Amino acid sequence: MTNSPPLPDSTDPSAASPASQNPERRREPLEGYADHADAVPLSGSLIGDDPTAMFQEMRREHGPVVPVLLDGIPVWYVIGYRELHHVTSQPQLFGRDPRRWNMRDHLPPDWPSLPYVTWQPSVMHCEGAEHQRRIGAVSDALDTADRTELALICEQIADLAIDEFSGDGQTDLISQYAYRIPAQVITRLFGLAEADLPELVEDVNYVLGGGEEAPSAITRILDKISRLIADKRTQPGHDITSHMLAHLARLSDEEIVMDLIVVIIASHDSSANWIGSALRLMLVDDHFSMSLQGGRSSVGEALNDVLWKDPPSPSLHPRWAVQDCELAGRRIRRGDMLVLGVAAANADPQVQPAAHADSGANRAHMSFGHGEYGCPFPAPELAEIIAKTAVEVLLDRLPDVYLAVKPDALRWRPSLWVRTLEALPVRFSPTVPTGQGPSNTWSASR
Ligand code: HEM
Repeated sequence: MTNSPPLPDSTDPSAASPASQNPERRREPLEGYADHADAVPLSGSLIGDDPTAMFQEMRREHGPVVPVLLDGIPVWYVIGYRELHHVTSQPQLFGRDPRRWNMRDHLPPDWPSLPYVTWQPSVMHCEGAEHQRRIGAVSDALDTADRTELALICEQIADLAIDEFSGDGQTDLISQYAYRIPAQVITRLFGLAEADLPELVEDVNYVLGGGEEAPSAITRILDKISRLIADKRTQPGHDITSHMLAHLARLSDEEIVMDLIVVIIASHDSSANWIGSALRLMLVDDHFSMSLQGGRSSVGEALNDVLWKDPPSPSLHPRWAVQDCELAGRRIRRGDMLVLGVAAANADPQVQPAAHADSGANRAHMSFGHGEYGCPFPAPELAEIIAKTAVEVLLDRLPDVYLAVKPDALRWRPSLWVRTLEALPVRFSPTVPTGQGPSNTWSASR
């Protein structure tokens, strides 16, 4: 996308604030939303263990573009594969600056999805030429990562994480493994000091958890990244941060801080969930557990299967209509919000009848998004190296690992936006730590 129209409120960031802060601008939420008279009430907290049945019923009753009340607020839930492809291919018609939203004055301050629609000065909310400038720098910097070195770093970090529990004979593979790896790997590529990494990863997990620690954690992350940028300005190295500083896009320090934080957050949660869900699949599914002891051959297949059936980001970042338009016969008004249901679109029987049953090597899923605002090159390739290495190292180190509970006791965290297992408890024969690497940063931090 080269041109996008000026945003209605682009000079007024406060326009993104919830209704309680603008009481005089309050209107009835459903005013003008005729199609939402029979809207499906939807709450992130209702989406849990088996959303497939919900998607099927929505598709039958409403078609590929569903009017929903998302925790009381009217939005469109795009669940058709073709329609999702159409929206993501037309960034000039479907923008992603939340300040476009015609419903922003109705949001209660405790609306559960508020973090996903609150404007920030990051690449995630840029459009048009400005987005190309910023994502171009991110892509070019990520592309300087040496893929072999990345796999080695990941192997080392995975080994260190396993060392922490290998003598115990049991662990939770979500909190003690999957969520310990991606941010550590990515931030090493930033050129941060080793000693800063454990606290940074812990803080990223606090931010993603959204609990009361989150605000102070974000302040600490901002501090660390700002100091890193100041250091790299005076002493550049062969790292992502130095490449962003030297990029032709001439990013300001503030822009680099924001976009490096986007890279950490976007990479950590998605990759951790990808690793966790692939390990679950290999532990519960006969097709994969047959080859669990044998090793690595089915890891790639399990990772691809997860992208089809349990995508780490089941909904993309929302889009907002730039002008009035039609989508699958629905009248979409300027400023309407569209939630792009990747998990639902991947399961659309009309477009991919065979793919969902047998995902095999088929990579036509939408799990990395699509088009201008999709997960940028070469992030999917880097993510695959991280996820594949993490799963392989675990299988190598704990060859007799097995699930400590019945498969149907595993629970997914209820969320429209992320697909995270609550826990993945396992048992295995205790082994001695390998003690690989110059220092075990996890032990050092305790
Ligand atoms: C090395 C790991 C990764 C990195 C560095 C990374 C980086 C990014 C960045 C910077 C963005 C923002 C793009 C923009 O603003 O235009 C993004 C978006 C996104 N990423 Fe990734 N990512 C990684 C892993 C993953 C994984 C494992 C998944 C899921 C399978 C994923 C799915 C997505 C999706 C769905 C979006 C939003 C696309 C949209 O809204 O259309 N990413 N990623």
